[in-house]
Amino acid sequence: MAKDRLDYRHWHNIVVLTGAGISAESGLGTFRGAGGLWEQQRVEDVATPEAFARDPDLVYRFYNARREHLCGGEVQPNAAHHALADLENLFPGNFALVTQNVDDLHERAGSTRLYHMHGELMKMRCTASGSVFDAPVHFDRDSPCSCCQRAGRLRPHVVWFGEMPIDMDEIYALLADYDLFVAIGTSGNVYPAAGFVQIARQVGATTLEINPEITEGSSLFEFQWRGPAGEQVPRLRDLLMSPG
Ligand code: OAD
Repeated sequence: MAKDRLDYRHWHNIVVLTGAGISAESGLGTFRGAGGLWEQQRVEDVATPEAFARDPDLVYRFYNARREHLCGGEVQPNAAHHALADLENLFPGNFALVTQNVDDLHERAGSTRLYHMHGELMKMRCTASGSVFDAPVHFDRDSPCSCCQRAGRLRPHVVWFGEMPIDMDEIYALLADYDLFVAIGTSGNVYPAAGFVQIARQVGATTLEINPEITEGSSLFEFQWRGPAGEQVPRLRDLLMSPG
């Protein structure tokens, strides 16, 4: 049975992991479940290196459409993104944010100590040099690369299935020493992120899941707050910032 009372007064180091659910109230779809992105589009067609080799135009179109939606003006950070940015600024201890999301809503809300382990939609990468650049809303195989000026070398700077997530050495270093681990809006289906809660338990950190639904990993969390991120994350911020 999950506890409902957090003893927060002695915490110094907090690591937060976010997933697609934190951006749901901003109008971005999640991946799994009814209406999720992976129900409309097969992962094998757009999110693997093999898909990019087989049909790059389809892959470019898929990510161009996602970028267009993200930049269209309707998608804005919500109360949960802002609450995490507040914590980074105001929490007296160490606060780090790891996101599986490729959107830039954490940055737009003001977060700076942020690891995009699955890459960034608004960046592109040269497949020859590995250099990473800001991406325009649209690019494709005719776009000249910003470093070598050659067409056909740019790819989205996102992690596809079968590829290594980004910044894992830094992220595992964070996970070696902390008091509280919070997973927000993630279904716990994709490793290595799905395994962070087990690492947290091994180092003796308190674990909290924020999600409206029960997930694959729910039983591993000591505390579970059921509800939308836009409601529950400001509640966490207020709790952590309240005088002990
Ligand atoms: P999923 O789509 O698997 O899960 C989204 C989670 O968000 C679910 O558990 C929902 O219950 C929850 N959720 C929905 N609305 C919410 C709300 N308002 N507030 C809080 N939570 C809400 O997304 P991820 O777990 O992020 O990877 O998926 C992990 C990875 O799988 C993604 O980064 C992506 C995907 O394939 C790659 O593409 C490499």
